Amino acid sequence: MSLPPGFLDDLRSRTSLAQVVARKVTWEARKTNAGKGDYWAPCPFHQEKTASFHVDDKKGFYYCFGCHAKGDALSFVRETENVGFMDAVEILAREVGLPMPARDPQAQQKADERTRLAEIMEQAVKFYRLQLKTGAASEARAYLERRGLPETTLDRFEIGFAPDTRTGLFQHLTGKGVGADDIVTAGLCIRPDDGGQPYDRFRGRIMFPIRDARGRATAFGGRAMDPNARAKYLNSNETPLFDKGRSLYNHGPAREASGKSGKLIVAEGYMDVIALSQAGFEHAVAPLGTAITSDQLQLMWRISDEPVIALDGDTAGLRAAMRLIDIALPMLSAGKSLRFCLLPEGQDPDDLIKTSGAKAMSAVLDAARPMVDLLWQRETEGKVFDSPERRAGLDASLKTALSKIEDGSVCNHYEAAIRELRRDLFRPAQRAQQGKRTAWTPRGAPQGPTPSAKGSLLAQGQAQSEARVRESVILACCLNHPDLIPQIEGDLERLRFLCPDLAILRDALLSCATELLDSDHKDSAAPLERLVADRMGQDPMDKLNGIGQVRTAAPIQKGGDPAMALLTLQEEIAKQMFSLGLAAEIEDAVEELSGIADEGVTWRLQQASETREKLARDGVEKTSGGSEDTKDLSKRLQDMLDGQVWLRKKK
Ligand code: UTP
Ligand code: MN
Repeated sequence: MSLPPGFLDDLRSRTSLAQVVARKVTWEARKTNAGKGDYWAPCPFHQEKTASFHVDDKKGFYYCFGCHAKGDALSFVRETENVGFMDAVEILAREVGLPMPARDPQAQQKADERTRLAEIMEQAVKFYRLQLKTGAASEARAYLERRGLPETTLDRFEIGFAPDTRTGLFQHLTGKGVGADDIVTAGLCIRPDDGGQPYDRFRGRIMFPIRDARGRATAFGGRAMDPNARAKYLNSNETPLFDKGRSLYNHGPAREASGKSGKLIVAEGYMDVIALSQAGFEHAVAPLGTAITSDQLQLMWRISDEPVIALDGDTAGLRAAMRLIDIALPMLSAGKSLRFCLLPEGQDPDDLIKTSGAKAMSAVLDAARPMVDLLWQRETEGKVFDSPERRAGLDASLKTALSKIEDGSVCNHYEAAIRELRRDLFRPAQRAQQGKRTAWTPRGAPQGPTPSAKGSLLAQGQAQSEARVRESVILACCLNHPDLIPQIEGDLERLRFLCPDLAILRDALLSCATELLDSDHKDSAAPLERLVADRMGQDPMDKLNGIGQVRTAAPIQKGGDPAMALLTLQEEIAKQMFSLGLAAEIEDAVEELSGIADEGVTWRLQQASETREKLARDGVEKTSGGSEDTKDLSKRLQDMLDGQVWLRKKK
């Protein structure tokens, strides 16, 4: 419904914000100056003892100097009553005696029909409630007791009983003058195909009334008591009152209970919501016999930024959660997401609370995982990524999933989170070593040439400067500890050196080492160095000492602890092998992206390239001063480069 122009202005001018706010706060007398329209109180939006909350009644605005809450009368009602915009308008309009604008005749007719149907539903609620107290319902009462629902809960959720008769409700309602057509339209009775007398939709079932956010009874869910019944739950059909994809069980009470905490639990069924509520989690809703829809997600996000999805701990529950991810991805926005908690195998919240208590439920809720985790689990669980093709397959499926996120910022953060997870998955060894403090850190200031072409930047730039450090360290270590060479000879031979000058040095070193091993100067470092120097026409250590880590790392030095030196050697060779593998992956990804790279990508590449150049310049000056700035820059650069792989295809 749209409001006529000027209606809101009229409403605002008639409303005294101070009066609206006064119901929720106590004014601080000393600070307040009512004559000037200046009111002060402790803020209703956050816990405080002092009065930081200011109301400017003349302007109709409030502002809290503590928590920065601000707004007008409408936003105040929305926030404090936890209602939507139109509801807030209606509440205020009623208060100031402003009649809500008339609707067009057709809309009015529809509204009238809905009001009429809602009244009939209300009569049905009463009827079913009464039936639960009759002798015919003794079995139903016993069943409810077995399920642990005390009288208070039956009252609170208005649980009733539909007698197992063909026309019990129909007779009752028509007896009160309700028209048969309306009863059928409300979904309470079904008219047989032959046009005969309508019969009750719900027979011999425990009845759960479903109310909309404003508290109107719109539908029923009916549970069979017979465990062998054909349909365990039977729900109302879609009616002018009930659109099941836009309804939530326990919507209104949950919204109220959620209040300032902003928490919301989403369970699968009626009994779960009831059990949760009984255990003190009153902020719980459930969809109604269908998978959660995007409309329902919107409703949930109006209550809570991060509803916690608590689906049954079985494969169906997990599958439902996984499907929900696809519905939610395009709808994510800053701050609005979902969390998922996984219940113990084969249990729903109702079962868990019954067997293990509210504390156990609470623990499960606290352990709820962010959606990105579940997305990752969905794409990786039960799979082994031991081949480039499989990894590429994973990349493709992740890219597809991420491309569903429409919010740019959220998408960026998803990409970053996925990148982290992916790094952990693909480079476990490097990860594990990052925690370990070695005598020197491999990620110092990069050296060497700074290619700026896109492909070479991504594939070689970062790798190359890191490679120069690593390759130098490896060679220096070998030169200073020739006796370790036999243990790593094979790897050293196989390792692809990225720096051509160092590759030549490596070849010379290996061949000299072989020569040396065959001779009798096995244990002294000097002969190898001299041999290599002779071969190259220059002392190799002169070149290698240009790298900071080579000069400063103790184990590498002549006379350094050989065990440490061996560790360093092995570690650096392993790291370089990993990083070469990764470079190849990035290259592939860039290849793939090149067709879709847009201006944004080009700009970021440009940035990365400039940063890299600056880094290289600084790096030469500081060599390996290991300044935090440089390290930080280097890390950011790495992240940026990694980031290119995950850029989303723009529409
Ligand atoms: P469940 O089968 O998980 O039932 O269905 P439940 O909630 O644990 O119920 P109890 O504990 O056995 O009483 C979850 C929800 O799926 C819908 C209902 O909304 C139910 O609450 N459902 C289930 C149906 O609509 N029809 C069915 O036949 C079964
Ligand atoms: Mn259950």
